[in-house]
Amino acid sequence: MSKRNITVIPGDGIGPDIVEATLKVLDKAGCDFNYEFADAGLMALEKHGELLPQKTLNLIEKNRVTLKGPLTTPIGEGFTSINVTLRKKFNLYANVRPVLSLKGTQARYDNVDIITIRENTEGMYSGAGQRVSNDGETAEAMSIITREGAERICTFAYELARKEGRKKVTAVHKANIMKSTSGLFLKVAREVGERYPDIQSDEMIVDATCMKLVMDPSQFDVIVTTNLFGDILSDLCAGLVGGLGMAPGANIGKDAAIFEAVHGSAPDIAGQNLANPTALLLGAVQMLEYLGMADKASRIRDAVRDTIAAGEHVTRDLGGEAGTTEFTDAILARL
Ligand SMILES: NC(=O)c1ccc[n+]([C@@H]2O[C@H](COP(=O)([O-])OP(=O)(O)OC[C@H]3O[C@@H](n4cnc5c(N)ncnc54)[C@H](O)[C@@H]3O)[C@@H](O)[C@H]2O)c1
Repeated sequence: MSKRNITVIPGDGIGPDIVEATLKVLDKAGCDFNYEFADAGLMALEKHGELLPQKTLNLIEKNRVTLKGPLTTPIGEGFTSINVTLRKKFNLYANVRPVLSLKGTQARYDNVDIITIRENTEGMYSGAGQRVSNDGETAEAMSIITREGAERICTFAYELARKEGRKKVTAVHKANIMKSTSGLFLKVAREVGERYPDIQSDEMIVDATCMKLVMDPSQFDVIVTTNLFGDILSDLCAGLVGGLGMAPGANIGKDAAIFEAVHGSAPDIAGQNLANPTALLLGAVQMLEYLGMADKASRIRDAVRDTIAAGEHVTRDLGGEAGTTEFTDAILARL
């Protein structure tokens, strides 16, 4: 049987280091993939004169599954976020961001196990209708929620909850104030919830959700929400389990999926062998689960978990003194 092709984007800053670490771990676990490398981000701008070359888009489309390092979007006019562009271009409507407490991290809690499902293409975050008046005094942007988009993401959340044996889905909204957009989302979430009597449906206003997440995260299971709220809540959740170095994210559409770390390119520690590769490793675990390789996924997750719990060879953000390579070697040894 021929090997499965995976598109790999090393990315910017710490990207190449954590991607290299992740590929070593995938290989050691016996995944037997054929990697096709593609450029995007600042690195692509320097090499090819554009942030997202057509060749990269073609590879993402061809292989359908992509593992991506973080990308730097240059600040300034004329540069739209590459991540937002990718999500739109491939209609990657579901952003799946799990967080799980691991022993050995310096997190505030040890009982967090939450999956945030963020709608990835609509709403306030999508960049629609952004305009600043000529005199610079007024700025506007548009938020559009469609029944189709809301139904698709809520169904995705309930299906995932069912598949993973989860008990509860909480729809997070601000329908009391944003009556049209958040109102439609909540209405559809309730309708979808009724189709899943085996799963408990809950709903919560976004500000109260933030407070409750910080007070007692154990009351949450699966969260489904709109784009901007999901962006913010998932970072809050990452903070509950020890920070951005621990949080992976999958962007899933009908015809393509991109797996990544939630964090950015961390220019402050780039090229110093200091990056914690855990978030991307857990992104690769999500990729394996997506590909139906659950046994290899749990082997890698366990090796990461045990290495962090042992605490001897962990990176600085986890309270250790190891570099990216030493930490990775410890995981490889466990595999
Ligand atoms: N998915 C993506 O590609 C993505 C996501 C967010 C930001 N970005 C881009 O990344 C660049 C830098 O953004 P930023 O500085 O605001 O956020 P960042 O996530 O890159 O860094 C925030 C802080 O967390 C630390 N950090 C992040 N990842 C770490 C890791 N794996 N191990 C140890 N420490 C880690 C950094 O050193 C920094 O102090 C920007 O250009 C931004 O556009 C990309």
